Amino acid sequence: MKYVLVNDVTIAYERRGKGTPLVLLHGFPLDHASWNETAPFLENEFDIILPDLRGFGQSTTVETPYTMSDMADDLAGLLDHLGIEKTAMAGHSMGGYVVLAFAKKYPQRVSGLGLVSSQAASDSPERKEGRYKTAADVAEKGVAVVVEAMTPKLSANERVQAFVRSVIERQSKNGVIGALKAMAEREDLMSILSSLTLPFVLIHGDVDALIPIDRAKEIKAAIPSAKFVELMGAGHMPMMEFALETAEALKMLK
Ligand code: MLT
Repeated sequence: MKYVLVNDVTIAYERRGKGTPLVLLHGFPLDHASWNETAPFLENEFDIILPDLRGFGQSTTVETPYTMSDMADDLAGLLDHLGIEKTAMAGHSMGGYVVLAFAKKYPQRVSGLGLVSSQAASDSPERKEGRYKTAADVAEKGVAVVVEAMTPKLSANERVQAFVRSVIERQSKNGVIGALKAMAEREDLMSILSSLTLPFVLIHGDVDALIPIDRAKEIKAAIPSAKFVELMGAGHMPMMEFALETAEALKMLK
C-alpha cells in the first residue's frame, strides 16, 4: 500500500492497472480488500485506485466527528496527490454515499459514477437511532459487536462470510464509530440525482439484506439513462458474490 497525508488523516491506497482512472470505494465496516476479486477483471482497462476510507484498513482517523463530505475531501486530496483531475468513481454501500457526496461537491472531477448495493436516501429516524446505539455498543464492547451483527447480513455465501468476518475483525473501534455517526448524519442526496448527466451504473443484488433493491430502483427512476444491473441471487457483496458480472457492469464507466 501507499500512503498520503490529507486533511490530518493518513489515507492508505493501492493502485493497479492501466487506462481510465477509476476509484473504487469500499463499504462499512470493510476496507479496500473488498474489491480484491473484482479488480483483476478491470485492470487491463482501468487505472484503479483503491483507497481505505478514513478510519478503515490502514488509513487513520480523527476523534472529532466527520461527515461523508469530509471523506469526499480526503479523496479529492488523494487525487490531487496522484495528479488526477477527473476520474470515474464507484462505491459499495457506504462507499456509494461518499461517491455521491464527492459528485455533489466536485462535479467537475467526475467522469462517471457507479453505486454498488447503495442508496441516495438518508436514514430513517429509527435507523439513525440504531446507528448511535451500535456506536455506543462498539465503544463499550469493541468491533466484535459489528462482526456478529453484520456478517450474516452481508452475504449468505459462506466463503464471503468468512472473508468479511476477517476484514471486519481488523478494523479499529474509532473508525467504526466515526463512520456510524457519519452515516447517521448523512444528507439525503436524492435531489441531486437529476443534475448528474454522467454515465451512471447501478449494481444491486435482489436478495440484499442490508439495502433493499428498491433503493436502487428509486435512483433508476430519478435517472432514467442509468444502467441498472440487477444481480439475481446476490446479497450485499456483489463484487465478491458476482465479481465478473460486477466488473462487466463497471466497464461502462470507461
Ligand atoms: C455498508 O455496507 O456500507 C453499510 O451497510 C451501509 C449502511 O449501513 O447504510
